[in-house]
Amino acid sequence: MSDQTEVLNASFTPRIFSGIQPSGNLTLGNYLGALKRFVQKQDEGIETIYCLVDMHAITVWQDPDALKRQTREAAAAFLASGIDPVKSILFNQSQVGAHAELGWLLNCVARLGWMNRMTQFKDKAGKNAEKASLGLYAYPALMAADILVYQATMVPVGDDQKQHVELTRDIAAKFNHDFGVDHFPAPEPLIEGAAARVMSLRDGSKKMSKSDPADASRINMTDDADTIAKKLRKARTDAEPLPETIDGLAERPEARNLVNIYAELAEQTPSQVVAEFAGRGFGDFKPALADLAVSVLAPISGEMKRLMDDPAEIDRILGQGAERADAIARPVVEKTRDIMGMVRSRQV
Ligand code: AMP
Ligand code: TRP
Repeated sequence: MSDQTEVLNASFTPRIFSGIQPSGNLTLGNYLGALKRFVQKQDEGIETIYCLVDMHAITVWQDPDALKRQTREAAAAFLASGIDPVKSILFNQSQVGAHAELGWLLNCVARLGWMNRMTQFKDKAGKNAEKASLGLYAYPALMAADILVYQATMVPVGDDQKQHVELTRDIAAKFNHDFGVDHFPAPEPLIEGAAARVMSLRDGSKKMSKSDPADASRINMTDDADTIAKKLRKARTDAEPLPETIDGLAERPEARNLVNIYAELAEQTPSQVVAEFAGRGFGDFKPALADLAVSVLAPISGEMKRLMDDPAEIDRILGQGAERADAIARPVVEKTRDIMGMVRSRQV
């Protein structure tokens, strides 16, 4: 962090914000790269705000009934993973209008040249970018609004979101500069651990994703023990045994991915895992990994099922979270409009 950023951020309350799209089954990548970290941050006693970003999800088509179900299911995944809705603020984005309001204001700060560099847009829009929604293009500016509407200083994310958090810093800096204020902090991306980028089980060069058409490419948080064991047994690997040190994994992306997953699940370093399994083949390693994955995920998916039996309770938690989130976000958005010169005279 540069000295300048440090001075700027020191004038804001330390606050963590992060979001996950409720656009499908959450995966082991979401759990290890995001949810598990969210719980650690909450338990470190920092103010934590976590959001199911349903307005980001609709940048690609979502069936309305499925979106509702997936939003509740993602909320259940947060709670089952250890998010405490009293300690953390947990809500879905569309219930707090300030996100969309600041999103528009920041659309007018972000530059087209910056948006054109966003790799996630290029990946998601693919060859047929003309048919992509305008929302998909503006997505990173809404993400900047999510973070800045809480004046959040830290953003735990997986590696793939680093570029978007950097864009958020650019937008914040341009706003502060253009209007001569220190209104927004420069949020830091927190990208930690061996699982910041969990790869597909089918292709070690692609990230594990809930939107991959091949279910066998990922472990879903709701997969049962047999499914998890089967997917890991079939996971693509090479024919070599595990090496003596992690340097031996450099050119072996699939093997490295499984070692990283094991390490994160076992709370060990990849070096410790390699030391334990050195010289042994995947015939030994995969069943051990499957047992470990089941032992971590089964209690979480069991708890998710229990929570999903009472969707009204989930809705109540999201509603209360939205109230608390709104209380922080509303004054920030009003202040932003004041800074930009918009008349505010309505009596409330
Ligand atoms: P998304 O599922 O795209 O909404 O991502 C939600 C959060 O999970 C973000 O912080 C992502 O960076 C993180 N995440 C998603 N997939 C992975 C993965 N394969 N490995 C690590 N983190 C991931
Ligand atoms: N773009 C993020 C993803 O796909 C989700 C997201 C939206 C987010 N708003 C955010 C993450 C704000 C962190 C902070 O993973």
